Amino acid sequence: MLLIFALIDGILYVNPTTLVEYWLAPKITTIPMRTDTNTDSNLTIYRKDYTAPSFWVDTVEMGFDLDPKSTVVSTRTTLKRNTESTEKDLILFGESLKLVQIRMNGQKLARTAYEIDKHSLRIFNPPNEIILDIETQISPIKNTSLSGLYVSNDNFFTQCEAEGFRKITYFQDRPDVMAKFTVMLRADKKKYPVLLSNGNLIEKGKLSDGRHFAKWEDPFKKPSYLFALVAGKLVCQEEKIKLQSGRKALLQVWVEKGNLDKTQHAMDSLQNSIFWDEQRFGLELDLERFMIVAVSDFNMGAMENKGLNIFNTKYVLANSKVATDADYAGIESVVGHEYFHNWTGNRVTCRDWFQLSLKEGLTVFRDQEFSADMIGTNSGRAVNRIADVRVLRQAQFPEDAGPMSHPVRPESYVEINNFYSVTVYEKGAEVVRMYYTLLGHEGFRKGMDLYFKRHDGQAVTCDDFRAAMADSSGRDLTQFERWYSQSGTPRLKVATKYDAAKQTFEMTFTQSCPATAGQDKKQPFHIPVAVGLLNAAGQDMPLHCQEQANPTDSTTLVLEITKAKQVFHFTNVTEQPTPSILRNFSAPVELEMDYSDDQLAHLLAHDSDAFNRWEAGQRLAMRRLLKLTAAVQVQQPLELDTMFIEALRKTLNDSTLDAAFREQVLTLPSTTNVAEQMDVIDPQAIKAARDFMRSEITRHLKADLLTAYENNLTPGKYSPDASSTGMRALKNLALAYLQEWPKSSTFELADSQCANAKNMTDRIGALAAMVNAEILTGGTHKDATKSANKAVAHALKQFYNDFKQEALVIDKWFMLQGSAGSTDVAKMRKLLKHPAFTLSNPNRARSLIFAFCNANPSQFHAADGSGYALWADLVIELNAINPQVAARLARSLDRWRKYTPALQEFMQAALQKVAASKNLSKDVLEIVTKALAA
Ligand code: TRP
Ligand code: ZN
Repeated sequence: MLLIFALIDGILYVNPTTLVEYWLAPKITTIPMRTDTNTDSNLTIYRKDYTAPSFWVDTVEMGFDLDPKSTVVSTRTTLKRNTESTEKDLILFGESLKLVQIRMNGQKLARTAYEIDKHSLRIFNPPNEIILDIETQISPIKNTSLSGLYVSNDNFFTQCEAEGFRKITYFQDRPDVMAKFTVMLRADKKKYPVLLSNGNLIEKGKLSDGRHFAKWEDPFKKPSYLFALVAGKLVCQEEKIKLQSGRKALLQVWVEKGNLDKTQHAMDSLQNSIFWDEQRFGLELDLERFMIVAVSDFNMGAMENKGLNIFNTKYVLANSKVATDADYAGIESVVGHEYFHNWTGNRVTCRDWFQLSLKEGLTVFRDQEFSADMIGTNSGRAVNRIADVRVLRQAQFPEDAGPMSHPVRPESYVEINNFYSVTVYEKGAEVVRMYYTLLGHEGFRKGMDLYFKRHDGQAVTCDDFRAAMADSSGRDLTQFERWYSQSGTPRLKVATKYDAAKQTFEMTFTQSCPATAGQDKKQPFHIPVAVGLLNAAGQDMPLHCQEQANPTDSTTLVLEITKAKQVFHFTNVTEQPTPSILRNFSAPVELEMDYSDDQLAHLLAHDSDAFNRWEAGQRLAMRRLLKLTAAVQVQQPLELDTMFIEALRKTLNDSTLDAAFREQVLTLPSTTNVAEQMDVIDPQAIKAARDFMRSEITRHLKADLLTAYENNLTPGKYSPDASSTGMRALKNLALAYLQEWPKSSTFELADSQCANAKNMTDRIGALAAMVNAEILTGGTHKDATKSANKAVAHALKQFYNDFKQEALVIDKWFMLQGSAGSTDVAKMRKLLKHPAFTLSNPNRARSLIFAFCNANPSQFHAADGSGYALWADLVIELNAINPQVAARLARSLDRWRKYTPALQEFMQAALQKVAASKNLSKDVLEIVTKALAA
């Protein structure tokens, strides 16, 4: 490779220093840009407009002279015309770039041979085979968007998905253009001792002036969005492993000095991921070296760059002092997710960004299965499944009913970053799970094998994936396509009839799907519905269905619903059954079934499907929360029946159940869950109803909760295993409940747990319980208020002092306060001025602001609209710093049309204020215009 560079001009790698000086000489004028082409009249990109690129790229050779203020990037690409394309010109994308020079086949490109505007560079009808040399100059230190090449804590990082590569150089920055990359990094050796890029290190050495270089070669073709480089002062934990084939691989986890005591869990998770993918899918690591790098300024969780995954520190760093059980689980799943992308995303990638769920839905499904297999037990799997479904209901259902509703495979977008959504990721994973449910464990594996056999090394579509599943199984999955093209959460109504004389049981399913943004009419979906029938003793009954064979004779049968209305008849049903429907949440639908309270209690007590056991409990709670909310609104007295309390008591005290599962049952539906069930959302009423329910539960179950607390202590060495995690979860939930009926003894329990905690889970669990008790005691128990509030303030201060060196822990500290019911807008404005607060670090910004806007409903939705005014100010301020983060925050008012008229008016005004503000990014613009549109 070096040879080739030496042959042509010798500009890239030979004698780099002089070249840099040449490039940076002040007399160099950068090529002027046309401004008139940037009309921005129609920003929308449509799936139907897809055309193949006019050129294919063979190789990309890049040279970076890294400097925070001015980095020079030289890129040499070899291109060949795509004879199937009707486009004559070569269109390269570029953003915020200074073009220093451009050469084609060794010749300086004449100014008339191309045109350039704010977003692209078009070369008019080039020859069929070309070598393009492009030098651009960028300023990483000024890049606060964290997309492209940027600086974080004096180190360099890149983030190229989805369209960040075009902020580094002019390139056909689209995922269907795949090329082999070779990268030469040059930088000051003292300041940037570590130089990393994709693939294998093939050369390194010294340069003049205290600089050094490293040359990396990625043996696999990849799209530009998977390019990455890292440079700076970093250290690593490394381990060698042996792969199934006997090959060896080097694994590294790179962090800032001082964090090496927090890398073991990420390293373990990586190794588990590698072995799991070999075992479960027969997929082997294809590189000699696999690196994970942690960075504290990062827009998302992590990024699957080939061989060089870059992670938000939040998903790498953990030890028992700073990380909670949830953090440990998050690390395992994100490390898995990024690693699994190596096959589902990198080896087989997306043809265009409309196909994003091809890699994301599939990879989320894979990471969910990985986490479940790591726990192993059935009840453990169910607890994971419950958590995943909670996310779906909490975030995806509302998204799909709001102004940003889009199908798993969107038809259009303004800013692709806005479509890294819960729909594409989580609903996308549900769609993949439905193939799994329909085809079975082995059938699904066969489909995956065929998918890789057909498409390894290609950029493909969701249809290609579906075809592999259909062809490998011989099943007709034509109708299944609607899961990709239709948005909205389908409703599935069930009516049942038991005939005692004939011993038959009839289930009638009616499906429909509400109109969603841009989609009025829907066709029926192909819905797999797993069902079982319970007898009066709570046992599963044998299933004989006339319409659907049950070859395995299992007690769960997957009914396939394909029509708007469909009836299933069960025979030999010897007694009136209680139907358990949509077991394990076999489809992402809203199930409407008129269960009686007794039926639900029966399911909660006995269903062999742990997911549906939990679901029955949630239904009991939801029914009551809706009634209580209505009662609050008309100022009727609030009451909670003993039947519900007793059902909870029974679960809480059932020691045959895992603590983790009991904790899930005792956790009430969230305010958002309740809101989504209402026609008009009244957040204060929901809050009052929920608070009442919590305090009633505590009043009746106080002794049981105390016992649960004491029975689930986990003394001894910290371990994040499923069983200890579940115990801590139940214990901390009990502690939180106990604050609802305060007597100094229970408050002191929290206070003392906080003071004596040996791990972060217990410390933050206790602190959260205390912070939330603050406002409650302020209500009905004035006597306790003063001393409690003092204790809370003290505990918060102590926590801050203990952890002020640990950014991720300080994020928790902000988050706790942002979501506390006692934090009003005035207190928020104070916290925003705290010296440790900053908008430019996404984790920090999210910790306080997102907590307030998304998890503190009673204060965010303050009757005077002050919460929304604060939101507007922050969206505007963030927009100038980091459009991606700003656009996420902008989503907080998505559902504004569902709120009470008075709140709607304030929300609309806030949205309009943002929409009218200057220099709005495409990211935020898309969100607020869609929200305001009728
Ligand atoms: N593809 C990444 C994942 O699924 C996420 C990602 C997409 C991302 N765009 C990003 C991460 C921008 C950071 C910044 O894991
Ligand atoms: Zn992903």
